[in-house]
Amino acid sequence: MIKKGIILAGGKGTRMSPLTKAVNKQLLPLYDKPLIFYPLSVLMLAGIKKILIIVNKGQLNQFKKVLPENNNLGLSIEYKEQTRPGGLPQAFTIGEKFIGKDSVSLILGDNFFYGQSLTKILKKNINLKSGAKIMVHPVKTPSLYGVATLNKNHKVLSLVEKPKKTNSNLAVTGLYFFDNDVIKFTKKLRPSKRGELEIVDLLNLYRKKNKLKAEFIGRGGTWLDTGNVNNFYDASNFISTIENRQGLKIACLEEIAFKNNWISKNDLKNAINFYGNCNYSKYLKSLINA
Ligand code: DAU
Repeated sequence: MIKKGIILAGGKGTRMSPLTKAVNKQLLPLYDKPLIFYPLSVLMLAGIKKILIIVNKGQLNQFKKVLPENNNLGLSIEYKEQTRPGGLPQAFTIGEKFIGKDSVSLILGDNFFYGQSLTKILKKNINLKSGAKIMVHPVKTPSLYGVATLNKNHKVLSLVEKPKKTNSNLAVTGLYFFDNDVIKFTKKLRPSKRGELEIVDLLNLYRKKNKLKAEFIGRGGTWLDTGNVNNFYDASNFISTIENRQGLKIACLEEIAFKNNWISKNDLKNAINFYGNCNYSKYLKSLINA
């Protein structure tokens, strides 16, 4: 059972500049919450309480203001800094001590997931006994992502990072599940032509040993990109549409913690004090009175 999760929330943020000159991308507002709430909510929905957040050097205080180590979420949150964005697999060397002898999930700080069966899929995936697991989702422009080719039995035949041409429309999403070999395998990786350690190279090490599985997030689920300003605002609109229609929030961290029985009504009250007088607090109040 996977009990630990890493959120990789550094990166250059150049595609979103000048918005990201002073503030890390993962702290920008995706509708009514900082972007990082969404990937954190995914780990929480999976039942993961031990979290490591990896941030850029010099940006620790920005993150701690909104997600303090001493939080009202029933979570253990640790932080580590990444000196230079040297690629996604660095999460496992920076996080080596945090992972210890356990298995771990990695989510990229800019990934948004939503959908009816999401929690069910997540709960299934944290049961990983050995090997690694990726989540794939159909997209119109696969060349922007890591792309997987699967056979009929969902066996992963190939994995390529941002291929110019491909016959597959299955993007590899930024949510991964790994056994403890991930540390050993990461240490075998060498930087690619663009000077970064590549997540597909890591996944291919598992694939070649027949230890890589893929799970579909089908068209009933949603995986959105927040990579540039346009799709960032598209994702914001999506959240606004759903939240204002239903009157329910996506990625309200305290709501998930409360429903998981990790926190009490008193913790909700503390959270309201923490956020102050705002709509988010009003929503928390409605949970107390429900
Ligand atoms: O979103 C899914 C895609 O994410 C996958 O399909 C690709 O296979 C994977 O390589 C990755 O592609 P991106 O081009 O989106 O990766 P990007 O460099 O933009 O980084 C994604 C997030 O991780 C972003 O929030 C910044 C953070 N990051 C990235 C790097 C390279 C770090 O915190 N440190 C890093 O060193």
